[in-house]
Amino acid sequence: MTSFSTRLLDWFDHHGRHDLPWQKSKTPYRVWLSEIMLQQTQVQTVIPYFEKFLERFPSVDTLAAAAEDDVLHLWTGLGYYARARNLHRAAKLVVSEYQGQFPATLEGLLQLPGIGRSTAGAILSLAMDTRAPILDGNVKRVLARHNAVSGWPGTAKTLNKLWLLAEEYTPTDRVADYTQGIMDLGATLCTRGTPRCQDCPLADTCRAHSRSEQAQFPGKKPRKALPERETYFVILQRRDGSVLLEKRPDQGIWGGLWCFPETPHDNNLPASLAAIGALAGIPPVTLDPIKHSFSHYRLTIRPILRQINRATEGVAEVNCLRWVDPRKPTNMGLPAPVTQILKTLVLQQ
Ligand code: ADE
Repeated sequence: MTSFSTRLLDWFDHHGRHDLPWQKSKTPYRVWLSEIMLQQTQVQTVIPYFEKFLERFPSVDTLAAAAEDDVLHLWTGLGYYARARNLHRAAKLVVSEYQGQFPATLEGLLQLPGIGRSTAGAILSLAMDTRAPILDGNVKRVLARHNAVSGWPGTAKTLNKLWLLAEEYTPTDRVADYTQGIMDLGATLCTRGTPRCQDCPLADTCRAHSRSEQAQFPGKKPRKALPERETYFVILQRRDGSVLLEKRPDQGIWGGLWCFPETPHDNNLPASLAAIGALAGIPPVTLDPIKHSFSHYRLTIRPILRQINRATEGVAEVNCLRWVDPRKPTNMGLPAPVTQILKTLVLQQ
């Protein structure tokens, strides 16, 4: 039997993905950007974001010089915005500390915000052809099945076993192709739902396959019901149609994004608005609630539209507050439910 990596590389040559946009010119900047976008997002969703992002920020220098709002704006809809803020911080560090060149060692890359061991491994192997293992979701599934590694990969014990296997199987030669190949195998054949073992080059040595236990690996996370939370969005709308958005603090959900002012009670204005003297005008209108899931809880958003009359049009613009015309595209980072509400408001006008 030929080795794991030889069989995988042979499969990759014939059946792997060879025309993903980040494979065209595998510079560390492009590979890094794609890996960060792909951390929690599917390939098909990432492609247009990746292309638009590169058009606007073609190099790490242009990204480092950008305003954070512009970076977050291009991320709108991709979710997990800490990725975008870390990306921006990392770009600044690469420029200020490393003269615009990404560090070429695991230790160096791990110093940059947003880069963990697997992403560092992907940058080293894909962009620098340096031998370094990766262990993203797809690779965890392939290795857990191939070696029948039990347990949930969220535990240190299982994760350590998988890292040891990843290290063992990663070849010295053609490490970029191997890395792309094992991700592709996980994404296209060794899928979560219905793996196509009949087409898999690793099936002959796969322990899960030999026991027909593909569905048991990797082990599942012990399930806990997500807590439910509720919040009110206060949509202050002027007579000219524009609405007030508030920049959220950098920490916490939707950090740094622009959002409607929030309050836990429907009869209160948020303190920020009360402080600058926003008054109730015409009676408020309740819009349809929106459900949004985060990794740690589910949120029901209850939007309340308050049209404000002439007397209150003067709500001051301060640093974190801005009047925005829902019909005009903005260059602000917006969470998905805010984009959704802005569209509803345009349709209602
Ligand atoms: N997921 C993470 N990295 C990837 C890559 N380089 N190609 C396809 N999917 C990926």
